[in-house]
Amino acid sequence: MDLKQLKAFIAIADLRSFSAAATKTGLSQPSLSRLLKQLETDMGVELINRYNRPLHLTEAGAFFYDKISAILTEIDTVTSMTQRLSAPSSALNIGFVPSVLYGLLPEVIASLKQSNPDIEVNLKDISSYQQIDALKSGDIDVGFGRFAHQDPWIQQILLRHERYVVALPKAHPLANVREQRLIDLANNRLILYHQTHLPIATPAITTSIPKPTSTNKLPAHTKRTNSTGQPLSFSTLNEPVTEPLLHLFAQYGIAPLMTTTVSDLQVALGLVAAGEGVTLVPASLQTVRTEQISYQRLVHENVTSPIYLHTLKDFVHPKIPDLLTATYQVYEQRGITYRKQKFASKL
Ligand code: BEZ
Repeated sequence: MDLKQLKAFIAIADLRSFSAAATKTGLSQPSLSRLLKQLETDMGVELINRYNRPLHLTEAGAFFYDKISAILTEIDTVTSMTQRLSAPSSALNIGFVPSVLYGLLPEVIASLKQSNPDIEVNLKDISSYQQIDALKSGDIDVGFGRFAHQDPWIQQILLRHERYVVALPKAHPLANVREQRLIDLANNRLILYHQTHLPIATPAITTSIPKPTSTNKLPAHTKRTNSTGQPLSFSTLNEPVTEPLLHLFAQYGIAPLMTTTVSDLQVALGLVAAGEGVTLVPASLQTVRTEQISYQRLVHENVTSPIYLHTLKDFVHPKIPDLLTATYQVYEQRGITYRKQKFASKL
């Protein structure tokens, strides 16, 4: 068994067609067919059923595909990391989720450039989960996101917890209420905008199914955790609430009456400005559309959004410690509470 055979198998399995796999890999169809046959003969297992179109994997083939594609991704990651180790890029490629751009990211970059006048910084707008793949492939060297990740290749530093604020249309009856409670928002349309949902722990857990109630208050929650160990809340149907804003409400036993889901934060704030509903955003967003939107604090201190710095565990770009120092400097200048952390770099 060799790498060429495995890559041929993955390409055929991905595309369910010899001709499409040939185009993708640049190999001829007979070569691909020969590589697959050799692999199956070496293993003594039929992996792909060739008698149906589109092609499909046998049960053993599907199992092999799952395991081998993960291994091939690891090989790509290790290869790319090794290449970067031998010739680290001088530029620092930073991935970020849009919400941190409205916050302190510009100040952090300015502070980094002050201490490193020659540094070249490239910024890439990229979702929290995509940042993990981008770190592994070398597309970015560091990522700022709002979700914790459990990945053996990745280390994360929790920078701080940012409080959520309520965004209401200026004409809303609650628009001038200084300290808002989630329960008072429950009868409004809540605009949801997160692309990333909270992860769920995989182990099967059996719990009784609570009966749906007639009010929008949820029954007492079953304590289960997501894959990062944080408690998950459950809906009346005992399904985990993984949408981040609904999860915040569910922690208080509240299910908003109506929701609308949009593609991003900007659209959500646009709908609030148009009087279509209310939403919750990290406090740093409260400078956006202030003529039409009233931002108010929440009484609940733990309704927060974490900000993480993600990097590879085994390869920290030489400028990343300076980036962390620049972040802490900005926090100190602004009087923001944080807990200093260090990288566990082996290199
Ligand atoms: C922050 O808002 O805390 C932050 C945002 C981007 C980079 C670093 C910190």
